[in-house]
Parts: sequence; structure tokens; C-alpha cells
Amino acid sequence: MDNKFVNIMSPNGSTKYLFFGGKGGVGKTTLATTTAVWFADQGYRTTIVSTDPTVSLSTMFGQEIGGETRVPIRHVSNLCGLNINPNDAKGVFQKRLNSVMGQMTGTFGGDIVSTPCAEEMATFDQFVTFLEEPDSEVIVFDTAPTGKSLRELAMPFDWAGFLQKQIQDGKELARLMNMDEDSFDKLEQDKLRYENALSVLRNRSTTVFNLVLLPERLPIEETYSAITGLDRLGISVQSLITNQCILPEVVEGNRFLAARAEVQSRYLDEIGSRFKDLIQTRLPLLDHDVSDLASLRQVGKIIYGE
Ligand SMILES: Nc1ncnc2c1ncn2[C@@H]1O[C@H](COP(=O)(O)OP(=O)(O)OP(=O)(O)O)[C@@H](O)[C@H]1O
Ligand SMILES: [Mg+2]
Repeated sequence: MDNKFVNIMSPNGSTKYLFFGGKGGVGKTTLATTTAVWFADQGYRTTIVSTDPTVSLSTMFGQEIGGETRVPIRHVSNLCGLNINPNDAKGVFQKRLNSVMGQMTGTFGGDIVSTPCAEEMATFDQFVTFLEEPDSEVIVFDTAPTGKSLRELAMPFDWAGFLQKQIQDGKELARLMNMDEDSFDKLEQDKLRYENALSVLRNRSTTVFNLVLLPERLPIEETYSAITGLDRLGISVQSLITNQCILPEVVEGNRFLAARAEVQSRYLDEIGSRFKDLIQTRLPLLDHDVSDLASLRQVGKIIYGE
């Protein structure tokens, strides 16, 4: 067991937000659900939130998990799940936006509502609610592949700036037209909400960004660019999990496996040296997939210990 890894992931008096990002298909959902089940089994009140429009979470736990309310996960005490569907969230968000914009629609409301990024903004808005009302000790996020989640994360940066400008311009206009300036209070509240969310995301002691990768060229490069992209947002990646590593003991003279293991070993060395500042964990390639509670608990033991 890597104590250092368990330590950074564990709640230390305040809620922990644990993110799992990475290239498509590398094992984000596997690691996020494993982590959620492990912490719940340790007795922590835990929530797993998926911002992925697919039904992975429902499939993994064999029960319907929607975006309206959190549902208790069967056979795992202390664990709830929520699957934010960007399309549904967009509707909720637009309603809220329309009411905030209310009398201002003519001036600038349309601009915001028609933004091509409304979906990402909506997902982020829902997600900010979790940062504001943490009623769990551990909140695990299973994010969409890197590019998309980076866009989601970058959104409030633009959004906060955008709101700032709208508030300034709008207030000026309101003064000129003798309109009520109080209607900008809600916008200001939104801006504050987003700024607070960003400071939570940037705080290394409350939020841990994990990137999952395979010991292969493309995932390594994508990991590097995700780290750089997040860094630009003031968010630091703290840990890497290299998945599907072929253990020497499974090769047993099989030439095909031996060749793959040899290629992996070069990439593992590269990962070790190129990302040496991050906490690194490895998960072996298993002889089965990870799609039920028993295998999630098995992976939990490998990653976090008994
Ligand atoms: N160590 C492993 N050994 C064997 N199978 C694995 C391992 N890790 C993950 N898998 C399997 O690989 C597949 C992809 O994993 P997963 O769904 O967690 O990836 P993902 O990064 O969430 O994908 P997506 O980008 O589509 O959301 C799943 O079928 C999972 O069961
Ligand atoms: Mg997934």
C-alpha cells in the first residue's frame, strides 16, 4: 500500500474532492468507482458524481443512477451516486439563467444563453453546487476524457470574467436608464460562487487531481498536455495511476505478452522519470474486466490496501 497516496486522498477534517481524468478508455471510471467504494467501505460518507453523459455509473453498480437526486448505492453503505447529464443540466441552467437575466434579456441575456458552451457551463454549474454544499466527507468525480473536462474546468474562468464585464457595463447602463441596480446582485453572487469553486479546485489539501494513463506513447503525451493545461488554470495534478501494467509473473514464456511487457517497461521508465514530482501508483492488467462490486473491491485492495 502506498501510504502517501492514501494520505493525500483521505479527508483530513474537511471534505475531499477527488478527480480522475485521462484519455478515453484508460480506466477513469474503474479508478473513480473503486475509490468511492473503498472510502465508503472505510466508513466515510462518500458520493460519486459522474459528469460523463454515458451510463457507465449505472452499469457499474447495476442500478439506475440519474441526475435529479443522489441515490444510495445498493450493497455499499455510506455511498451515494449521481450522474449529471449535460443535456438535462443545460435545461436547469438555462431556466436559472433566464430568471437571473430576467429584465436584462434585451440588453445581453441572449448572448449568454446562446453560447456554444452552455452544456459545459451547465455541467459546471451543477458541479459547483457540490463544492458549495458538501454533505459527504469524500466526493469522487468521474470526469469525461481530458479535452472535454479541461474545457468544463476552464469555463468558469471565462465565465467569471464575462460576468464581471456584464456587471460593470450593465450597472452603468442601469444608472443611465434609471433602472434598478439591485438586479445585478444575483450575477455578482454567481460570480462569487464560481470564484469560490475555483479556489477549492486550486487547493491541494482539499482537491486531488489524479490522471489515469496506460504505459503507451499517446496516453503519456496526453497526460503531459493535461498537466500543462490544468497548470495554466492554477490547478496542479498530484497523482498518476498507470493502469493495465503487465506483471512479470503473468508472462510465463508467452512471447506475445513478453513483447508487450518489454514495450511497457520502457514507457514505465519514461513515466517514472518524466513525472517524477507526482505520486505514482500502478494497477496491473487483470485477467477480467472491472464491472461489478467484487472486482471494484479487489482493485481497491490493490490500490489502497486492505
Ligand atoms: N486493470 C485492468 N485490467 C483489466 N481490465 C481493466 C483494467 N482497468 C480497466 N479495465 C477495463 O477497461 C475498460 C475501460 O475502463 P473504464 O471504463 O474505466 O475507462 P474510462 O477511462 O472510464 O473510459 P471512458 O473514457 O470511455 O469513460 C473497462 O471495460 C474496464 O473494466
Ligand atoms: Mg468512463
